[in-house]
Amino acid sequence: MAQGEEDKTQQKMLDYIENAHAMEQSILRQLGSMISSTDDQEIVEMLRHHREETEQHEQRLRERLDALGRGTSTRKEAQTIAGSMAKGIADQVRGDQAGKNARDAFTTEYMEIASYELLERLANQAGDTETAGVARANRSEDEAMAQRIAANWDKFVDLTLAEEGVQT
Ligand SMILES: [Fe+2]
Repeated sequence: MAQGEEDKTQQKMLDYIENAHAMEQSILRQLGSMISSTDDQEIVEMLRHHREETEQHEQRLRERLDALGRGTSTRKEAQTIAGSMAKGIADQVRGDQAGKNARDAFTTEYMEIASYELLERLANQAGDTETAGVARANRSEDEAMAQRIAANWDKFVDLTLAEEGVQT
């Protein structure tokens, strides 16, 4: 790769790290509001566990940004996108919540998985094995979370109906 192309690849990777970092910050808020709108203890436990993982995801990305000499102040666009997503989710937090929370949480995990698939490849192109490793580590925990949500669809429907006073 010519020097100019290397610079552009590195730059693109940095953009993706910043986006992922802003995404994790907004997901921390999303998980917080889901935890406070959930009564079922098992689901609360699952969300709390993933919030701890998400804190680590955010921290790993922040460490990469620091190591690469990029502060975390130039992520306006990413924050706008992630922020409006989180807001859309927060707006729904009252009313039928169990089903909608599950749907939104599942969708969020797959958005993260897609982001990390792209970031890992960009990092490999840029020869940054540490960033590639962070993308992989974060993605594998998001995949596990998506699976935990998917193992509970029946329960989410029961909880949604229970909110309407329907016992299943
Ligand atoms: Fe996640």
